[in-house]
Amino acid sequence: MAHLLITGHSRGLGAALTQQLLDQGHCVLGISRHPIRGLRRSQSSVIKECCVDLGQHSSIAELLDSNTLEDFFRNAEQAILINNAGLLSPIGLAGQAHSAEIIHSITVNVAAPLALSNRFLAITGQCIDRRIIHVSSGAARSPYAGWNVYCASKAALDHHARCVSMEGPEHCRIESIAPGVIDTQMQAAIRASALEQFPMRPRFDQLKESGSLASPEEVARKLIQHLLSQSFGVSPCTDLRDL
Ligand SMILES: NC(=O)c1ccc[n+]([C@@H]2O[C@H](COP(=O)([O-])OP(=O)(O)OC[C@H]3O[C@@H](n4cnc5c(N)ncnc54)[C@H](OP(=O)(O)O)[C@@H]3O)[C@@H](O)[C@H]2O)c1
Repeated sequence: MAHLLITGHSRGLGAALTQQLLDQGHCVLGISRHPIRGLRRSQSSVIKECCVDLGQHSSIAELLDSNTLEDFFRNAEQAILINNAGLLSPIGLAGQAHSAEIIHSITVNVAAPLALSNRFLAITGQCIDRRIIHVSSGAARSPYAGWNVYCASKAALDHHARCVSMEGPEHCRIESIAPGVIDTQMQAAIRASALEQFPMRPRFDQLKESGSLASPEEVARKLIQHLLSQSFGVSPCTDLRDL
């Protein structure tokens, strides 16, 4: 049984990961602004939820200064951090966004996962198996006009994984994984964006219309299989569609 901290567990990919990991008998600590809804619990489900706004520096600091992570991982043999929370906004060409939106996005997408990874590594030294996943994106590796903040934030996660992998913390594997295109609220937000903010929007309209989006459940299944396998972390940056 693994102990897994999952950020952004309240909906989308994070909710599907949470449900499937609980179904498999693992312990989950979920961190989002809202609780997960419609969870199917069994007698053996062990879930703890913390409402934290990962877009606020003070809330991240409060979480890290508390004993929440230490208490959760105290007796874990296998400890896993899934940095999944993320947001696409602000969508728009450089020069169009409000500075506060950029700062908020970088806080959720970069500052929170890096600070959580740092704390995770500091407190789980006793574990015989430690794993960190950053949920990245194809946008980390290919530029998209209108997504300059998002692309830069996901590229930061990729490079963080490469560096930590090179540092080689004891008993730890790290991987930044692009999950593919998933039918979640994030995709709905893409289709709701204005063409002048995101000129490539028709491609994403077409993906939805042609039924080409993967379900969160399907992606979660594949991600968990890889996460718990021996091949996890062999390469620090991967695409789930190639595994
Ligand atoms: N959907 C795709 O096609 C796609 C493609 C490539 C990569 N990804 C990546 O996959 C991950 C999951 O995306 P998704 O599609 O499942 O997105 P989603 O449905 O929009 O869910 C995002 C999750 O992040 C949490 N979150 C957002 N802002 C937060 C904040 N300030 N503090 C704490 N939690 C926050 C949300 O919880 P609360 O609102 O409750 O806080 C929610 O649980 C993201 O990192 C995304 O970049 C998605």
